[in-house]
Amino acid sequence: GCGKQEPASAPAAGTPAAPAPARVLVVGTDAAYTPFESQNDRGEIVGFDIDVVKAVAQKAGFEVKFVNTPWEGIFNSLAQGDRDLLVSAITITDERRQTMDFSQSYFDARQLIAVRNDAPIARFEDIKTLKVGVQNGTTGDEVVGKLLGKSNTAIKRFESTPLALKELEAGGVQAVVADNGVVVHYLANNTAGGFKTVSDTSFPVEKYGIAVKKGNAELLARINQGLEGIRADGTYAKIYASYFGS
Ligand code: ARG
Repeated sequence: GCGKQEPASAPAAGTPAAPAPARVLVVGTDAAYTPFESQNDRGEIVGFDIDVVKAVAQKAGFEVKFVNTPWEGIFNSLAQGDRDLLVSAITITDERRQTMDFSQSYFDARQLIAVRNDAPIARFEDIKTLKVGVQNGTTGDEVVGKLLGKSNTAIKRFESTPLALKELEAGGVQAVVADNGVVVHYLANNTAGGFKTVSDTSFPVEKYGIAVKKGNAELLARINQGLEGIRADGTYAKIYASYFGS
């Protein structure tokens, strides 16, 4: 016959449709930022931020998968809907708030200057005579741009923070300005010494937040609920201690 057939998947009348399986939310992260996010030898994305988001997701009842996403373009991937949320040691700034929404803050950071041991650098202003490496488009880039002038050719912009620090080791730049946690970790684990850090009280405290697409209030509420939950039950403190000591 040529009669129309019911599609095989159509539920019989009266049978309640099975609930749609929960979608796995895609988390973008620039995984070249140890100890916050990096890729281990098995290609898994690991780190403090990763553990925090996994715990938040578990608390708030959603599933996540992490996708390595270069910093350049990470905010765009959120705006385009290619990523549902971002965790990437992202500092909450007023400028970024215009194009995305942030969770409550989950970590405090500050810029830190890395130089050779023998560099005559005591405070931020002293780097004015040096070639300075930063990760392009970060808050480190911003503060250095403010001090030296955005288009000053003494500023060398790198795709990742480790690349900037490698160039410090190689002598191509004489200073790097980046988030304290990453600078300290890199110098301790990737160099044989010879470098020091210089802090400066003019650097403001930076608050890391988890970003969602502007207007995604529902997901934001769940993330905040998860963050509150893992703070209240001690999970956050445990994760923090396992990376940074108590
Ligand atoms: N906190 C700085 C910023 O938001 C640097 C973050 C870089 N993160 C990364 N995973 N590469 O600009």
